[in-house]
Amino acid sequence: MPYKLLFVCLGNICRSPSAENIMNYLIDQAGLSESIICDSAGTSSYHIGSPPDRRMSAAAQAKLGIKLLGRARQLQTSDFQEFDLILAMDRENYDNIIALDPTGQYHKQVYLMCEFCSRHNLKEVPDPYYGGQEGFNQVIDLLVDACEGLLQYITSQNLKN
Ligand code: 4NP
Repeated sequence: MPYKLLFVCLGNICRSPSAENIMNYLIDQAGLSESIICDSAGTSSYHIGSPPDRRMSAAAQAKLGIKLLGRARQLQTSDFQEFDLILAMDRENYDNIIALDPTGQYHKQVYLMCEFCSRHNLKEVPDPYYGGQEGFNQVIDLLVDACEGLLQYITSQNLKN
């Protein structure tokens, strides 16, 4: 059974699709595409069905040469059973995810993405939506750091079993 990761932000058009596609890029490079599967979702319904924001796609293309694939969907309670780890981009996303699990039985599967950073000190992935292009570029840098740490964590925790 592959290990399943779900990246979550507010709209599922900027941060979480970037995390998903960056993670897939690293997973491919590591030859682990059969072992780890990624998806992303938003806590809100604002952008359901939309492709990633073009400013976010431009940053991913410029910095990593990757395209951002996928369409926005909303987080649903069945995602708790479906995914092994759920990665929240910021504290508000984290709280909204936890609120969908009132009994707390899935609490230990939910992490803040920045917990896996080793080169950045930020605790949250900043929402770039209302800012300039530089904010989108910074999101990519931060997510590369977090995704590298996350991949290391998963391979050391799980794939050795
Ligand atoms: P995301 O960014 O949560 O990283 O996808 C946002 C996208 C849309 C909005 C806010 C943040 N919005 O307010 O519509």
